[in-house]
Amino acid sequence: MMRNRLLLGVGLVSLGALSSSCSKESPPPESKPATAAAPAPAPAPAPEEPPKPKMSHEKLVSFFRPSAAVKAATPQDTTARIALGRLLFFENRLSKNHDISCNSCHDLATFGVDGKPTSEGHKGQKGTRNAPTVFHAAGHIAQFWDGRAATLEEQAAGPMMNPVEMAMPDDKRVLATLNSIPQYVKGFKEAFPGERKPVSVTNAARAIAAFERKLLTTSRFDKFLAGDEGALSEQERRGLELFAASGCTTCHNGPSVGGTSFQKLGLIEEYPTGDKGRFEVTKNEEDLHKFRVPTLRNVEKTGPWFHDGSVKELPQAVRLMAKHQLGMSFSDAEVDDIVAFLKSLTGELPGPEVLAPPALPPSTKATPKPDPT
Ligand code: HEC
Ligand code: HEC
Repeated sequence: MMRNRLLLGVGLVSLGALSSSCSKESPPPESKPATAAAPAPAPAPAPEEPPKPKMSHEKLVSFFRPSAAVKAATPQDTTARIALGRLLFFENRLSKNHDISCNSCHDLATFGVDGKPTSEGHKGQKGTRNAPTVFHAAGHIAQFWDGRAATLEEQAAGPMMNPVEMAMPDDKRVLATLNSIPQYVKGFKEAFPGERKPVSVTNAARAIAAFERKLLTTSRFDKFLAGDEGALSEQERRGLELFAASGCTTCHNGPSVGGTSFQKLGLIEEYPTGDKGRFEVTKNEEDLHKFRVPTLRNVEKTGPWFHDGSVKELPQAVRLMAKHQLGMSFSDAEVDDIVAFLKSLTGELPGPEVLAPPALPPSTKATPKPDPT
């Protein structure tokens, strides 16, 4: 079914000079040059063994250096602010019916996703897009599939007031809720010392963002990047080399293996989707069907994949990417190698001090009641 044939697409492919399909070993340098008189004997067919690495460690590492496009995190993420942000991330009273928190759709125990194609918000309503992971989101050039929020701070207030997500009617109800809970009032004062009105939606978003910047995982791939070439198995290394050589790294690059640019889905071969992507934000024809490239960190755990959650198997995601983004077709073995590499990006989750749902401060009489309407 799969044809082991490279359909060389235009553009990007030239960036990847190598492909494992043409990675036959070159003759070892010490082999004697054939004399003019005697024709060199035809080399014996090489035994079937996995191809040796063709790309140096240094070259491979170069694709994943920090990009200038992603702003370095410099805000004052104090312990008080992070602790407050953690409470708010798990706080379901920030939803209209007190039944949904950020963690409902970005479950930290399952790599920051809910595992559904599209999430259920207030009254079980569904949006049209898949919930991306919040792990490593801080490393993204912008937030959301279409990049409509420039920063985590700008993003975090959105879901509370989004009618199909947490459905709070307005800022006033958010503030009434927070101000009714003494522990929050204290928490905001500590997190935003010296401010005249520490309890605000903006500050809630700043605290959540500070917490989200802690949502990082470390994988074997980090060891590899740091210089330990043995951290990846032979197959993972082959997959990484194919990933780089075939041009996946033109889009999935930087420390988060993605998140550094907006790219057209269906760059080489049109991809069927009704989602206009970045165009919705800029109304610029050039941005039609462009999406913020997702991080591939922990990608094994963040399915189903793509902006609409329509792709259920990781090998399928790899095949679709090869076809639509690069105009290529990989053999089954090549897909296996890339998937093996992608799985090496699965990291260790932080400990319970970050992940475990915290004890939330109790409501008071003044706290607005759940509203199922
Ligand atoms: C009902 C489910 C739901 C809830 C609740 C929810 N989110 Fe999301 N989140 C999503 C979906 C879906 C997207 C993608 C939407 C889009 O791109 O248009 C998203 C996107 C994001 C992103 C962008 C990630 C990226 O890679 O671009 C971040 C960060 C995020 N949410 C954090 C939060 C925070 C913080 C809260 C709580 C205040 C929250 N979410 C509540 C479903 C949810
Ligand atoms: C031209 C840019 C580009 C290239 C090249 C590219 N990708 Fe992607 N990749 C994207 C975009 C954009 C998305 C988001 C697709 C969507 O939202 O539906 C994506 C999504 C993915 C996903 C799904 C991630 C998720 O969380 O849903 C995987 C896996 C992936 N790419 C792997 C690869 C592999 C492997 C290659 C090389 C064979 C590759 N990509 C090449 C831009 C690219």
